[in-house]
Amino acid sequence: MKTKRHINPAAGLRGDIVIPGDKSVSHRSVIFAAQAEGTTRITNFLPAADTRATADIMRALGTEINEEGKTLVVEGRGMRGFTEPAGVLDCGNSGTSMRLLAGLLSARPFFSVLAGDASLTKRPMRRVTAPLREMGATIQGRDGGQYPPLAISGGNLTGITYDLPISSAQVKSAILLAGMLAGGETRVSEPAPSRDHTERMMAYLDIPLAREGSYLVLEPVERYRARDIEVVGDISSAAFFIVAALITKDSEITIRNVGMNPGRTGIIEALVAMGADIAVENEREISGEPAADLTVRSSELSGTDIGGAIIPRMIDEIPVFCVAAAAARGTTTVRDAGELAVKESNRIKTTCANLRALGGKAEDRPDGMIVDGTGGLPGGGVASFGDHRTAMSAAVAGLASDKGVTVADLDCVGTSFPSFFDLLDSVTIS
Ligand code: S3P
Repeated sequence: MKTKRHINPAAGLRGDIVIPGDKSVSHRSVIFAAQAEGTTRITNFLPAADTRATADIMRALGTEINEEGKTLVVEGRGMRGFTEPAGVLDCGNSGTSMRLLAGLLSARPFFSVLAGDASLTKRPMRRVTAPLREMGATIQGRDGGQYPPLAISGGNLTGITYDLPISSAQVKSAILLAGMLAGGETRVSEPAPSRDHTERMMAYLDIPLAREGSYLVLEPVERYRARDIEVVGDISSAAFFIVAALITKDSEITIRNVGMNPGRTGIIEALVAMGADIAVENEREISGEPAADLTVRSSELSGTDIGGAIIPRMIDEIPVFCVAAAAARGTTTVRDAGELAVKESNRIKTTCANLRALGGKAEDRPDGMIVDGTGGLPGGGVASFGDHRTAMSAAVAGLASDKGVTVADLDCVGTSFPSFFDLLDSVTIS
């Protein structure tokens, strides 16, 4: 079923919400719990299609996982306990599942196939298949290993030194997961820091991972003990509420439990540079990840320029950041963000097309976009392009528009944030 919804202009946003579990941390929590020795209780696991795909794949590899509400109870198989899956492993829409598990499966002595939906099937995989082949894995994919499905015959890997050409937490994590069972040392560097959830989870689980200059250095890992994990809230999900509160009048909301991993907080820095009123309170740590509560108030925003090292630290938030840019006064330029073109949709094109469809001014460039802020958007109708973040960004634009926004094909929101509209309705004053 394809759902459609009209989002009316809001009089403001008011209230106090708790943001659901982080998608990146949820994927890693179930992967690391499945390789551990002993039982892990994962609390606040994100109940969404992407993270469910990873949990179901760990089940298909022989892991017992029981669900008690938002808690997963994972019976670890140990580093060498997975068994050859009987069928194709379905990653759905999830690039994180496919890339991380390509690393994990490359190190296992059996045959497996990772497949995905129409969007994932178009996403580039050579970035993981190339280093994993260098480590000794046999991986086949369409176009010489560039596109899914991926067929993997794993085992007998050797550690490599690998300099990522483009910062990517998924590629870095795939190599580390493979390196855990490779012979010898695995070394990884990246041009600018990306999210370090894998590194933090390894530290939390006492898995030795050293840093030598710009390299992460990993020795083979024979075993590690299970430890309960609480998943911090997702700053990428919070970003929709942050921008919504900033660009609607008379708004003040508190968003609790927001993950503040330094590899993810670029969106807050960029918005603050535009004049956003965002108070960071109650800073704490949740299972090795920094967290805080954020209070966000309506703000007059002005245009800004972003590029360079901040881009990997806010890559998933750029569609909703551009909604803030359209509602600001002045020009915003996004550079060095060519990676947006190979996300769940081509987010350079889909973001600009939707802003234009709503009466805004946006020009796409090969490595980003230029958005001319006009102080607000008239509104209209847009498509989601099957991309969850494109859909939710359009909904946020609707709240601050003159006549509202109709978003078609909203089912994709379930990829990362099934409770998005319920939470939004709970804070919207009409
Ligand atoms: C993710 C890394 C990022 C991000 C994605 C989740 C992760 O992708 O865009 O949504 O969990 O490691 P890249 O590694 O391709 O930059």
